Amino acid sequence: MAGVQIFKKNSELRDWRLKAVGSVGFVPTMGALHAGHAALIERSVAENDLTVVSVFVNPMQFGPAEDLGRYPRPWEKDEALCRLKGAATLYWPEPSDIYPPFFSSQVEVLGVGDHWCGRSRPGHFIGVSTVVLKLLMRVKPNRLYLGQKDAQQAAIITKMVADLDLGTEVVVCPTVRELDGLALSSRNQYLTAKEREIAPGLHRALRLCAKGVQTGLIKDSKAIGQLFQEHLSSSSPWRLDYFGVADPVTMQPVELIDKPVRLMAAAFLGTTRLIDNEAANPRI
Ligand code: PAJ
Repeated sequence: MAGVQIFKKNSELRDWRLKAVGSVGFVPTMGALHAGHAALIERSVAENDLTVVSVFVNPMQFGPAEDLGRYPRPWEKDEALCRLKGAATLYWPEPSDIYPPFFSSQVEVLGVGDHWCGRSRPGHFIGVSTVVLKLLMRVKPNRLYLGQKDAQQAAIITKMVADLDLGTEVVVCPTVRELDGLALSSRNQYLTAKEREIAPGLHRALRLCAKGVQTGLIKDSKAIGQLFQEHLSSSSPWRLDYFGVADPVTMQPVELIDKPVRLMAAAFLGTTRLIDNEAANPRI
């Protein structure tokens, strides 16, 4: 099994990058790695000479009442997975290495973050864009690997990369799911056994709505919204955060569904917030 080099300091990563030969793929993560992350690492290893995985639980993207403190940090398991999947480098910076004292810059991608998670989690995407830009400046990858599971995040980062001429190719990979349809997420481990049974209902409701769009029977986003609520509340105790129909690139709400869209949803089970999304292509 190939060795993985572990760097904690920016200077170590910089020295490595200066000497790296061939194409570099980059998979930014917050750790607690699962098969969804593993699929991104595998794809990067297959498409590049060297793969860098970063593990950084980014304080800037958590709200004051969110789960920064209890976010899982199974360091040894994460390292083993990176090793197993053939990553060359694991970048595991300390918060002070990313945000030194008096750090005072931030990146905001206007428009794409206005709705959905951007509205429910104020400041969240500023934290995401800022850290991803910093990581991209450090890793300087040829390709960046992101998951479709976080569709709005992928749209925002894609726009930032284009707007700021970052010169990396963004590769968005399909959502990896459990057999019952639940999207893999580091936060799934917060679910109780009972909540875990109910959790696939979010994706089921999204798929039923996507089918409604695909058959051409429903074209109105409000009607799709009602259908979604009916499906979801049939498997209570969900607490809906949002459901909406979005343009897949701009992430703006769509009222009349006459082109391919993304159905976006977030809902709580107990204190755990789950998000998911599904493509819906209307028959025209
Ligand atoms: P994290 O939630 O750890 O996710 C890291 C990457 O894995 C993201 O691109 C995410 O979309 C992808 N991913 C997560 N679950 C997935 C699944 N079930 N299938 C496919 N891909 C999946 O997203 C973040 O971290 C952070 O916001 C980050 C981009 C690292 C910035 O801090």
